Amino acid sequence: MSQAATKHKTIAPSTLQLAPPLKWAGGKRWLIGALQELYSPYHGTRLVEPFAGGLAVALGLNPKKALLNDRNPHLINFYKHLAAGLRVKGKLLNERKFYLRQREKFNNLIQKKKATSAEAAQIFYFLNRTGFNGLCRFNSKGEFNVPFGRYTHINYRPDFLEYASLLKRWTFTCKDFEQLNVRDDDFLYVDPPYDVEFTRYAQHDFTWEDQQRLVEWLRGQSCPIVASNQATERIIKLYKKAGFKVQLLPAPRRISCTGDRSPALEMLATRNF
Ligand SMILES: C[S@@+](CC[C@H](N)C(=O)[O-])C[C@H]1O[C@@H](n2cnc3c(N)ncnc32)[C@H](O)[C@@H]1O
Repeated sequence: MSQAATKHKTIAPSTLQLAPPLKWAGGKRWLIGALQELYSPYHGTRLVEPFAGGLAVALGLNPKKALLNDRNPHLINFYKHLAAGLRVKGKLLNERKFYLRQREKFNNLIQKKKATSAEAAQIFYFLNRTGFNGLCRFNSKGEFNVPFGRYTHINYRPDFLEYASLLKRWTFTCKDFEQLNVRDDDFLYVDPPYDVEFTRYAQHDFTWEDQQRLVEWLRGQSCPIVASNQATERIIKLYKKAGFKVQLLPAPRRISCTGDRSPALEMLATRNF
């Protein structure tokens, strides 16, 4: 990578902010300072996140109005129940046997098409906190198949009442990003799954064609847009070509697949500001 990382003023996330309730891959809590700088002049406007994931950004920016979308139906079901005041029933145990029983129960609910219940939301929370690395993976039959995580200690929440009043103000949807209706007076933050330029694995659920489809869709939006992604050569080229202003920031993860331990670079791209 020939381009140098931009020095960016980083504001530490406020201690008053609620931490994301789940573990979620690609969480952007570390980017809140930079995003706050961009969002603060627009604070009254609706925040739209087509890839809301673990909610690190919505909880960090704390908008009055938000449209939060993700294609993962279990995630969105969990947030809808959180907004309705989800309480944890029974005792949650960080034990292998208990975990496998809960996983089976969750898969039965999926099979019986009852995965939108409060019970499914509670089990999803338990599996996320207890399973290996907070992963969310399904086999070809659509069954959740993440192994037990072996954490020494887990603080399970007895309820999520702190989240309820906040999440009630926001709208949650579960669609492909392209089906969202974004208005000219919105503020759009997009954080798709990372582009992985060189990989031996062909099966990626967000392909290079999806990255291109996203940028094409963004070109049709006229509100302020912020996009983040792994700063690969082709991603930078794609966003620059679409008229985005691009900066590079050091990310808190390392380039490890090549044995190189230097910090990975994140792209932060802006348009219509
Ligand atoms: C990098 S994560 C977002 C992380 C989030 N910004 C956070 O801070 O927690 C990307 C998310 O995109 C979702 N996703 C993948 N493909 C999608 C699609 N076509 N439309 C909408 N969401 C999608 C995934 O389920 C995942 O939660």
